[in-house]
Amino acid sequence: ASLKEYNTFGIDVRARRFISVSSVEDLKEVLAQTYASELFILGGGSNMLLTKNIEKTVLHIDLKGKEIISQNEDEVLVKASAGENWHEFVLWTLAQGFGGLENLSLIPGNVGTAPIQNIGAYGVELKDVFEECEAISIQTLEQKTFSKNLCEFDYRNSVFKNKLKGQFIITSVTFRLTKKNHILRTSYGAIKNALDERNIKLAGVKEISDAVISIRKAKLPNPKLLGNSGSFFKNPVIPVKHFEKLQQEYPEIPSYPVSTREVKIPAGWLIEKAGLKGYREGDAGVHKDQALVLVNYGTATGTEILQLSNKVQETVEDRFKIRLEPEVNIF
Ligand code: EPU
Repeated sequence: ASLKEYNTFGIDVRARRFISVSSVEDLKEVLAQTYASELFILGGGSNMLLTKNIEKTVLHIDLKGKEIISQNEDEVLVKASAGENWHEFVLWTLAQGFGGLENLSLIPGNVGTAPIQNIGAYGVELKDVFEECEAISIQTLEQKTFSKNLCEFDYRNSVFKNKLKGQFIITSVTFRLTKKNHILRTSYGAIKNALDERNIKLAGVKEISDAVISIRKAKLPNPKLLGNSGSFFKNPVIPVKHFEKLQQEYPEIPSYPVSTREVKIPAGWLIEKAGLKGYREGDAGVHKDQALVLVNYGTATGTEILQLSNKVQETVEDRFKIRLEPEVNIF
């Protein structure tokens, strides 16, 4: 089976066997019948670069459903199954009048993979609204609930990318959302500007979501039209000393404080300054509007995208002595 439709980069590799499960029972049955080493778990396919055929059983997690677990006057706990499309879920929560996910509008991928890399955008990370998630151990079939603490969330990172990598399949995620007194996060410059442009003074969660959607649409390519995986690299964190040196040469260099000793630099800026924004090799390219995003113009292979990412890493390192690390998982 071709996996082209199942990864947002649109890379045409094949799976030896492809199984889609739509219930936890079916999932357990497949796990019981297949060696863990024989499995390749596939969620929304939005954060991966496939560079070769998968000589394994690709297990597509297609669990659907969302429900309100409990609520009081102020707050609500909403549980969504892993296979729910992230953005559709966000829109559903907003339609119920629930706040919390508005800044995370239009992020590609599914609910179940969101905790793995602690998705984030415009001043909010998944961890800010995360209550718990349920997961199944691939080895033992044991079902386990992970509290926020157990997930060890960090910038684009969690326990599921580290200690527990490849060991659990997340089946559902529960979010703690607000019903009133929403915590509006509008400090991100681009959101402020979008609200000002529309002359909105008293924004609610819906207005913020609309602003985020328009910002993302203006900068980030729609994976349905142009294959991509969002940010290909993480924004690097560097010592303040190194930053001050760079600042002497590039006074305009943007940065976000991390601690007294470290700052985060937008990788998109580094790539653009290194002259690679819009750069293209065959069908593999650096996006023309947001240099942090690598794109597939049509028939690029995973290896070609990987070669381009190596070139980006080397060029940026030569110029700034900063090594960019991929954010996407490479197989
Ligand atoms: N910039 C450039 N050139 C570029 C791109 C960016 O100079 O080509 C500069 C911008 O001018 C701005 C700064 O870099 O000063 C930051 O750019 P932007 O606001 O677009 O955000 P980012 O740091 O590039 C991060 C996340 C995005 C998230 C946005 C908004 C990472 C790796 N990426 O990007 O997440 O949407 O902030 O919060 O942290 C994703 O993870 O897939 C993703 C899209």
